[in-house]
Amino acid sequence: MTIALTLTDTAFRDVVAAAVRAPSLHNSQPWRFRNHDGAIEVHADPARRLPVADPTGWALRIACGAATLNARLALAAMGLAARVQLLPDPDDPTLLARLTPTTAWQATPAEEALFAAVERRFSNREPFYPAPVPVHAHVQIIDAAHAEGAWAEIIHGPASVEVVSEIVRAADAALTADSAYQTELRTWTRPDRDDRDGVPAPAAGSAPQPDDLLPRRAYGGHEPSPGGDFDPDPLVVVLGTAADTPAQQLQAGLALQRVLLTITDAGLAASMLSQPIENRTERDGLRLALGRAGVPQMVLRVGTGRAGFPTPRRDLAEVIDEG
Ligand SMILES: Cc1cc2nc3c(=O)[nH]c(=O)nc-3n(C[C@H](O)[C@H](O)[C@H](O)COP(=O)(O)O)c2cc1C
Repeated sequence: MTIALTLTDTAFRDVVAAAVRAPSLHNSQPWRFRNHDGAIEVHADPARRLPVADPTGWALRIACGAATLNARLALAAMGLAARVQLLPDPDDPTLLARLTPTTAWQATPAEEALFAAVERRFSNREPFYPAPVPVHAHVQIIDAAHAEGAWAEIIHGPASVEVVSEIVRAADAALTADSAYQTELRTWTRPDRDDRDGVPAPAAGSAPQPDDLLPRRAYGGHEPSPGGDFDPDPLVVVLGTAADTPAQQLQAGLALQRVLLTITDAGLAASMLSQPIENRTERDGLRLALGRAGVPQMVLRVGTGRAGFPTPRRDLAEVIDEG
């Protein structure tokens, strides 16, 4: 039997403060939160779904899944176990997740470490140092994805990395040629760090170059320093799920966030490349290239990062719906 515990308003706000640190496409923050009937509800904010880049709501569900993981870790860190239900109410399509605190809980060391990484994690788009990612971190990444019901495939060897790189480049070229896509991207690019949403140019890394192994998004980054490849040897990881249902996309969001927090906790850095997921043809190509069951949900580059900074989020008042 489980007993619902009531969350104080302060505790609820603390949970939401952690949840909003989740990543989202172009930092669109497509979520809302409600403290209702003894549970925390994670809702989609349809007004913040990106109509061109995200016509199906895939990216919105990844972001809200990631926010759900942060919320679960925040509850654990404050001494509460929670039952997490994805898509709990077919009559309420914006309700993506419900977290019901059930019992008192002593956070495990792993939960404490992951929760501590929530504030420190950010997308690091700068070139990584040419230091290989230790093999035990490969294992941690794979285990983190499995722990949340997803899979992570490490792309080993230059030939396989080149195959994935070709797919990312083809997807990026298709999106770059799409003027509506580019116009939408520009509306989420911010010149400095003061705005509460969108990608600030100082977080954009260096501007993409034609010979990049993995083309980054053009978020208004600085010119690259002369000489030197951009990551000649990054660790490339593909995260995926067994199927591509809305519930599995939410699950992928939880897994993505657990992988990113695991990487942060290991002192490593990561950034995301979702071009091949947004482009249907290239996503199929990536699935076939991996030669495994399931559907890719995200491509990550992982390495030893330079210093960076967590990007801003909107005020909590803008994302909280009263009970
Ligand atoms: C579904 C999804 C797709 C993303 N795709 C990309 C991408 O292709 N390139 C990139 O640089 N960042 C990508 N990101 C990262 C977001 O831009 C980033 O999370 C957001 O700007 C907030 O910044 P932060 O991760 O530093 O907190 C993606 C994030 C999500 C959730």
